[in-house]
Amino acid sequence: MTKLFFLISLILLLIPFSSQSEKQKPPTAAHIELTNYGFPIGLLPASVKNYTLNQTSGIFSVDLVGTCKITLPPDNYLATYSKRVSGKIVQGQIAELDGIRVWAFFKWWSITGIRSSGDNLVFEVGVVTAKYPSNNFDESPLCEGKHSAS
Ligand SMILES: *[C@@H]1O[C@H](CO)[C@@H](O)[C@H](O)[C@H]1NC(C)=O
Ligand SMILES: *[C@@H]1O[C@H](CO)[C@@H](O)[C@H](O)[C@H]1NC(C)=O
Repeated sequence: MTKLFFLISLILLLIPFSSQSEKQKPPTAAHIELTNYGFPIGLLPASVKNYTLNQTSGIFSVDLVGTCKITLPPDNYLATYSKRVSGKIVQGQIAELDGIRVWAFFKWWSITGIRSSGDNLVFEVGVVTAKYPSNNFDESPLCEGKHSAS
C-alpha cells in the first residue's frame, strides 16, 4: 500500500517534468533575434530552419521546416504558419507580415502585424486588433499533427 502510494506520487511528480523537457528546445538564432526586438520567442514555432534579416531595413524572412499548425494561447485559436514567414521588424513592431493565418469567426484571417505594447502583444488583422498578455508566448510552440515536421 505504502509502496503503491509512493509510486503514484512519483509518477505524478515526474509527469510535469517529462512533458516540460520534451517541449523545450533551445531557441534558434531567429528566436533570439525576436527577443532583441522586444518580442517573446513563442511567436515562432520551434521548427525554424533558417532566417534572414536586413538590419537596416528590418526586412526579414523565416523559413520553417514545413507548414505548421499551432493552437494560440490563451483563447485556443487555430493558427497556421506558411513554410516562409516574412515581414518588416523594428523595435516593438512587426509590419507587412505575411505567412501567419488565424481561424476565427468561421474564416481564415491573415495576421498583418504584431506590436509589443508593455506586457501585451497586439495582433493586427488589417484594421482590427486583438491584445494578449506577452507571457502567453514565453515558449516556442511545437507544430501539431503527425504530418507536419517540427
Ligand atoms: C537561408 O536563407 C537564405 C536566403 O533565402 C539562403 O540564401 C540560404 O541558403 C539559406 N540557408 C539554408 C541553410 O537553408
Ligand atoms: C538592406 O536594406 C537597405 C535599406 O533598404 C539596403 O540599402 C541594403 O541594400 C539592404 N542590404 C541587403 C544585404 O539586402
